[in-house]
Amino acid sequence: MLAGAKSAAKLGGQKGKRMFRDPTVMLHNVVLSLSDSFDLVHPVVADHQQRVAYTALRMAQTFGFDLDLQADVMYAAALHDIGILSVADKMCVLEFDVSDIGRHAEIGSTFLQGFPVFARAAELVQHHHRRWDDEPGWEGVDPRTRLAANIICLADRLDVSTDKDAGILSQVTSVKKKL
Ligand SMILES: [Fe+2]
Ligand SMILES: [Fe+2]
Repeated sequence: MLAGAKSAAKLGGQKGKRMFRDPTVMLHNVVLSLSDSFDLVHPVVADHQQRVAYTALRMAQTFGFDLDLQADVMYAAALHDIGILSVADKMCVLEFDVSDIGRHAEIGSTFLQGFPVFARAAELVQHHHRRWDDEPGWEGVDPRTRLAANIICLADRLDVSTDKDAGILSQVTSVKKKL
């Protein structure tokens, strides 16, 4: 116990009891802070994950997902590229056509699997670059999880396809062609 904590325990007359409660932190605040810290690494990726999270969440709502699945979609989307470990790799993944795109999805998913609250988000991150028609890659994956992962994939590709310095409406045709 630290010296300060010892004296606090004495003052409170709570010998043998914990004087400090574990802090309570809202999970979505932790997720968004983690997401922020990741995206602040380089201006090019600034807010990428949070834009993807917003778009994916709106799509999940449109599909009528229950609130738990909406939350998992938001968590997964806000952290979907957490498995990218270098700035160079971050740049690479922001290109639209990348051949070896699955590695960071595996790493990110493995990282999230360490936290039971992110169990389904981990699965969504694992599949966030898998094409809808990638058979038999989806074998054993629950259809709702598959749809949720595809929503994140679409939101992600949408984000990397748009020019943030130009008006979004003028890009509809070119973005549609890419997707
Ligand atoms: Fe990714
Ligand atoms: Fe991404």
